Amino acid sequence: MITCGIVVHGGVGSPPAWADGCRRAAQKGRSILERGGSALDAVIEVAVDLEDDGRFNAGTGSQLRLDGATIEMDAALMTSEARMGGVAAIQRVRNPILVAREVMKTPHVLLAGEGALEFARRCGFADYYQPTPAVRERYDRIRAALEKGGEDVRAAWRSFDIQRYWNFATRYEDLFGCDTIGAVAVDREGRLAVANSTGGASPMLRGRVGDSPLVGCGFYAGPAAAVAATGIGEEIIRRMLCRQVHDWIAQGEGIARACERGIAQFPQEVPVGMIGISRSGSACAANREMAWAEIL
Ligand code: GLY
Repeated sequence: MITCGIVVHGGVGSPPAWADGCRRAAQKGRSILERGGSALDAVIEVAVDLEDDGRFNAGTGSQLRLDGATIEMDAALMTSEARMGGVAAIQRVRNPILVAREVMKTPHVLLAGEGALEFARRCGFADYYQPTPAVRERYDRIRAALEKGGEDVRAAWRSFDIQRYWNFATRYEDLFGCDTIGAVAVDREGRLAVANSTGGASPMLRGRVGDSPLVGCGFYAGPAAAVAATGIGEEIIRRMLCRQVHDWIAQGEGIARACERGIAQFPQEVPVGMIGISRSGSACAANREMAWAEIL
């Protein structure tokens, strides 16, 4: 049995060398649990830490959308008592996970776009827009890959007429990758919680929402386990990945086996990763390298 514990990931495809960030964040979450704090407070602490790190695609490290200027982020929280809060396609805040926590206090579970931003301002969240040099470099690489085409570009984008649907104020001529940060925890009272935060996938149109703020897709916390996913959101959404993996665990499957089975549903060219925790075990599985850490 796990008395209390936490598992953290830095996004599928994140270099294992970044596991120091995951460990630091996990340690912060773990100390909340050790003081008798809730799993929810622990995963929020982790998500804020990784949003502020700058290396991960969340919060201050969020990637740019296809126009090279817009940043839109998704974040969500859920507990095993079915408390939920999330934001989708929110711009110009530093810590979307903290806005998601405020949404939890409302009758709603998910706020999107301009409504989410106005809500955040009402809650006192300051304007924040500072794409880092690393974020700008990544955008340049994506744009170069799109211009070059061919094998460097994911199949779904090779056959998609992006110029036909271009919906930014700037030109198309002027977008690859995908990762997310996530944390799952169990506290001393056996409560489970999950947090997700992401700058989304790339390339991305304005208004695109991935799996990260969608319950049952990029995250789920239920009686049996808390699970979080990272990877190409559209593919994760199609498979309702996290609810499915949770239900396999509820039916008695071991958490490690359930996460691996979840990953095995995806073709190898689709990057995907998962973390999970229950009262009796924890797991991390991915079909790419991925920075992660756990403290049980
Ligand atoms: N998994 C992050 C996204 O697709 O937005």
